Amino acid sequence: MKTTQLIILIIMSLSPSIHSLAQKNANYDENKVREYQLPDVLTLQNGNKITNTRDWEKKRRPEILSLFEQEVYGRIPNAKLQPFSSKVIEESDEALNNTALRKQIAITFKKDDKEITINVLVYLPKNVENPPIFIGYNFYGNQSIIADENVILTRAWIDNNAEFGIDNHQANDASRGKRANRWPVEKILAQGFGLATIYYGDVDPDKNDFSDGIQSFFYKKGQTAPADNEWGAIAAWSWGLSRVMDYFKNDQSFNDSKYILMGHSRLGKAALWAGATDERFDIVISNDSGCGGAALSRRNYGETVAAINQSFPYWFANNFEKYNLNETNLPVDQHMLIALIAPRPVYIASAESDQWADPKGEYLSGHYAGIVYSLYGKTGLPSPTPPSVNQPVHNDMGYHIRTGIHDVTDYDWEQYMVFSKKHLM
Ligand code: GCU
Repeated sequence: MKTTQLIILIIMSLSPSIHSLAQKNANYDENKVREYQLPDVLTLQNGNKITNTRDWEKKRRPEILSLFEQEVYGRIPNAKLQPFSSKVIEESDEALNNTALRKQIAITFKKDDKEITINVLVYLPKNVENPPIFIGYNFYGNQSIIADENVILTRAWIDNNAEFGIDNHQANDASRGKRANRWPVEKILAQGFGLATIYYGDVDPDKNDFSDGIQSFFYKKGQTAPADNEWGAIAAWSWGLSRVMDYFKNDQSFNDSKYILMGHSRLGKAALWAGATDERFDIVISNDSGCGGAALSRRNYGETVAAINQSFPYWFANNFEKYNLNETNLPVDQHMLIALIAPRPVYIASAESDQWADPKGEYLSGHYAGIVYSLYGKTGLPSPTPPSVNQPVHNDMGYHIRTGIHDVTDYDWEQYMVFSKKHLM
């Protein structure tokens, strides 16, 4: 074993404790937040100011997108990778006590001896034509979101997890519905929405290993890891979401629908980046996405750039490490990520007990992105002060902070449905 591999292994085995130590030692005192100056969303790197949507779209938006690619999430190599096959592998019009259509789709990519299949599980209400569809990754396999025996059991990247019914990289029946608390499927359908979900590990296993995820399909001869400015796991997960969208846009039974992308935590970071890079997502929702997601990087509150790069270096491009304890030199901050989604509606949600994700920093990103929404005549989050807990704001941008912990709750979903109805129905 090479010394570098050994060091990586040691760091990985230490990382849970590094992570909890970082959580314990983080700053949670608003008075200790240092003063910071955010890069101006509407000033080009050459100093020129942007004053209209045309210049925003032609000049500043591409510039910001490229800075995020280069310095934060990493570029996706140019080579095109077409699916080897996209198949409906199971379908029923009698799902959920005859109230829903269920469709399971397998999108397979092949390269040399490598193969990856992205399994998509879709439920659609039977009585609604072209329902808007919530789309989001899950953490433990499609079968974990609902106790439905017809959902195909996932191959998992984690070895064993008795709690989630995963044994030797394979989910078993015990895992059905284990995360149903985060996915109120029946309520979502009853409100006239569809739901599509994908297991994030299908696209890139969540570990510091670049041999087994989708990145490896793009390597040049002899390459074993992405270059310093190339994609980490967040960009890989967002790539996967776009491939699912390719499928939907080509399947006649879906292509008139609207899509509401929702992600929690690390998958909220992926949702925001997918929403920024792919304008086919009509609404984008970040649930407790925190550092590297909605929260401003320059605020030293909760998780910081240095902390996230220490525990999860493989989520980002290597270049992002240049900004450990050096956020001032980052040419972007996360309000610019939110601005990339404009003028599409975007929703940022926080939880009161999730201080690690810096709820105020999550709110402020939305607030400072509002200037781009204003160019389009849209209303963001005009108040510089976040609303009180459980007092949602639903403008063209939405925000709430609810009581409770880092999680996805029915309260969160209720807000997302009200907000989505307002904008799409
Ligand atoms: C860790 C990490 C967060 C991330 C979270 C999650 O706590 O530090 O950045 O959002 O995991 O994905 O659950």
